Amino acid sequence: MSPPAPAAVRDRLRIAIQKSGRLGEPSRALLASCGLDWRESRDRLFCYGESLPVDLLLVRDDDIPGMLAEGVCDLGIVGRNVLAEQAAEREARGLPEAARELFALDFGGCRLDIAIPDAWEWEGPAQLQGKRIATSYPWLLRRWLERQGIDAEVVVLSGSVEIAPRLGQADAVCDLVSSGATLAANQLRPVLTLLESESVLAGAAHAPAGARGRLQEQLLRRMQGVLRLKDSRLLMFQAERSRVPDVLKLLPDADPPTMMQLDGQDTLALQTLCRGTMTWQRLEDLRQAGARGLMVLPVERSLA
Ligand code: PRP
Ligand code: ZN
Repeated sequence: MSPPAPAAVRDRLRIAIQKSGRLGEPSRALLASCGLDWRESRDRLFCYGESLPVDLLLVRDDDIPGMLAEGVCDLGIVGRNVLAEQAAEREARGLPEAARELFALDFGGCRLDIAIPDAWEWEGPAQLQGKRIATSYPWLLRRWLERQGIDAEVVVLSGSVEIAPRLGQADAVCDLVSSGATLAANQLRPVLTLLESESVLAGAAHAPAGARGRLQEQLLRRMQGVLRLKDSRLLMFQAERSRVPDVLKLLPDADPPTMMQLDGQDTLALQTLCRGTMTWQRLEDLRQAGARGLMVLPVERSLA
């Protein structure tokens, strides 16, 4: 691989995603559905974009905010928790914002929770006074403790935080919870949520200019198109004019429908984009309300 070009002269867009772990696969799948594909290099940490000048960097998620801050990449797919931790650190150090959340991506949902040993009776945040709390999110935790007026010791660990109480390194933990299985397996239970998180598209504080900026805008439009259509289906049906209001009452998750009058009849042909899942039960309810000739069609692409 040739040495990387400095951000100012680089004309190809770069997106950093998680190399391995929970966000890696869905991140790739999302980008692929936007029409991107890559020639994988042998080191597999840099993937050269073939269909568009958009390259992929496979990195540790915790490194993504820093890479955005330094202009090494233009976009990143990362948990809001990681971005928020970096923002809290920069705020505490008096540094300006370096990366920002552009929009949420609808996967990788989790919470940053404080969890205590099962055996404790939970009496509220004041109970954490004087305790040791293990976390990989020291800046978010410290800021929260400070705002609550709680003086606790923050024990910084880079992984396997949940085991710290059993090892006597800490009394409680502050860590990500998704299914809750890791906490339960370590006899801990969540009592407070510091942050609701999910995967987000993150961009540098200042979007790139020129051709790279236009490329970024194009990609953002495609991603928003893909997200908008997630689970969406085109629904087509006919109904007597008088029964249309009843049918539409059953479609609160649909766009305003396009309606066409069928020649010389009191029947309308309707089509609308539905956001929610179109189960057999829903179709039967729609039929009951007066819809006929129901058809559910997949929607492949949309561009606003
Ligand atoms: C996260 C987190 C917890 C676990 C929670 O770790 O740090 O340990 O997942 O998930 P659960 O509630 O579904 O059990 P992850 O596997 O992402 O590894 P990492 O902490 O090393 O990034
Ligand atoms: Zn991680």
